[in-house]
Amino acid sequence: MSETLTDKLNQLEQKFAAMGQDMASYLEGLLQADYLTYWDYIHLDTLLSLQNPKTAYPDELIFVTYHQITELYFKLILHEIAQIAQTQPLTSAFFTARMQRINRYFGLLEDSFGVMITGMEREQFLNFRMALLPSSGFQSVQFRQIEIVSTDFQNLLTEPADNANTLADQYDYIYWKRGATELATQQKTLTLRQFDKQYGASLVRLAENYQTTNLNRRFQELEQDGQATNDLRDALREYDHRVNVRWKLAHLRSAVQYLQKEPDAVRATGGTNWQTYLPPVQQQRIFFPTLWSLQERENWGRLFGT
Ligand code: HEM
Repeated sequence: MSETLTDKLNQLEQKFAAMGQDMASYLEGLLQADYLTYWDYIHLDTLLSLQNPKTAYPDELIFVTYHQITELYFKLILHEIAQIAQTQPLTSAFFTARMQRINRYFGLLEDSFGVMITGMEREQFLNFRMALLPSSGFQSVQFRQIEIVSTDFQNLLTEPADNANTLADQYDYIYWKRGATELATQQKTLTLRQFDKQYGASLVRLAENYQTTNLNRRFQELEQDGQATNDLRDALREYDHRVNVRWKLAHLRSAVQYLQKEPDAVRATGGTNWQTYLPPVQQQRIFFPTLWSLQERENWGRLFGT
């Protein structure tokens, strides 16, 4: 037996002995175990069993699959942000590298939105969407989580909530609630009521957990210690602009493509006043206000270089 193998066996023996385990039994297990396959590792069968259109329109498969692809990228984005929040001590280099990964993911999402905008037949879309009422991407909890862990809660409010002391009270003023107003009745949409019932409490808890570790707070920490670099500032500005302007504009184009019909707009599945709610110039969401000049903030929502 080669020296390398003996060495490995010794290391294994020490590892198992430390836990009071018998190495020979584990080696026997290794002998019996099958080789790992690609399809088992990525759970291909399960993955491909998750696209279940509600209608027979062929283009609905594109719609459901693209939403799932987006949610998987959202998962990776949240995974990177959690590492930035937890790492101690945090360096600008680590922070920047993670932000660049996140920007790459958001870039891919923005660039691929054509799959939605021009990748489906409008007639099919307008038909199959009726089978999806009242669900809407508005209910994407991962998108809301990304917003909450990116900035201070107050930056997500539509107005200063002076008499709302707790985050739970402030949650009533969160900008997306103002958007989800039923056009006909001016009541909260069913889409929003269902979302709040399912996720409201957990989103408030998330905001509490990230009060001092959201991306904006962690950046301010480095800034105050004189450790923030220009690369980090650039990466954060790019992120802010990608999420709150560029992705939102790409998404808005899909709504215009399918739902805009002169002189009236087609009713959105979530029932919002989407034409006045969705445009970033109306929303004015900014995660890192200190990183933008007054002029840039005043022009927020109009495309400009970062
Ligand atoms: C043809 C494609 C799409 C159309 C026509 C569309 C339309 C809309 C509309 C009208 C709204 C406003 C809420 C409502 O009344 O329903 C909305 C919100 C939203 N949609 Fe989509 N959407 C599309 C694709 C997507 C995709 C692929 C995602 C990815 C997850 C997504 C995520 C969202 C999110 C996060 C919101 C809330 C945005 C905000 O609060 O600013 N949508 N969508």
